[in-house]
Amino acid sequence: MSAYHQLLSATIDFLQQQKSRGQRHVQVDPAKLAALMRAPQATQPHTATTQQPSSVGTKADSFAALREMVQTCTQCPNLVSSRKNVVFGVGNESADLMFVGEAPGEDEDEHGEPFVGKAGQLLTKIIETMGLKREDVYIANILKCRPDTPGKRYGNRPPTGDEMATCSPWLHRQIEFIQPKVIVALGKTAVEGLLEQQVAITRFRGTWQTYRDIPLMPTFHPAYLLRNQSLTEKRKIWEDMLSVMGKLDLKISEKQQGFFLSK
Ligand code: URA
Repeated sequence: MSAYHQLLSATIDFLQQQKSRGQRHVQVDPAKLAALMRAPQATQPHTATTQQPSSVGTKADSFAALREMVQTCTQCPNLVSSRKNVVFGVGNESADLMFVGEAPGEDEDEHGEPFVGKAGQLLTKIIETMGLKREDVYIANILKCRPDTPGKRYGNRPPTGDEMATCSPWLHRQIEFIQPKVIVALGKTAVEGLLEQQVAITRFRGTWQTYRDIPLMPTFHPAYLLRNQSLTEKRKIWEDMLSVMGKLDLKISEKQQGFFLSK
């Protein structure tokens, strides 16, 4: 990514952060705005002699550049000093289906991969019950670093509003690259981070929403299912997944249709 595009991305991220904090107007020096608009032409390489990568190559290169920027992010000093790994995301970068969770926990921080602990194993099971593999979808979180828990030896804490506002622009950029056909938001924090509104997840789940023109299905976080293993709660998440499968035109067998129904 060129210095110009890095600067532009940082500007966009900053403006999105301000917007999510409620700011609706910014003052821009007209001369600086004009310079910003002129810059791409000034820094454009001579296309006649420059090899043009394929569009797939361009996409992968840019995603790699984004990953690099996230891996070296230092915007939250407390999380930088406590993290073992930045948890960027995992899966198919051209996935039709993307799952978004809250934040890495201890296991994810240890391995640098989202959803690898107990809740993650349940998420993998859900994906496989849908007839997909973990590698078919993309999985990411609102926060890329594990929320710190000073003075505690174990346990996780939910992200603060400030941490979410600071980190979520990375997720927005990931989604822009991946362009999934459907997003599943896992739990209240993920829904609130993506839709930038407060929700009551018990009422909101199972109802189609829209994130920047992409259909979004809010559902319970798999950690909730670990605590509430009743057939009724399992069926609720499963019905949300059946809805997602329908939206993606995935084949649904009779057996899949009937999972977690009481006999
Ligand atoms: N919970 C989340 O929300 N994300 C993870 O990556 C793991 C657990």
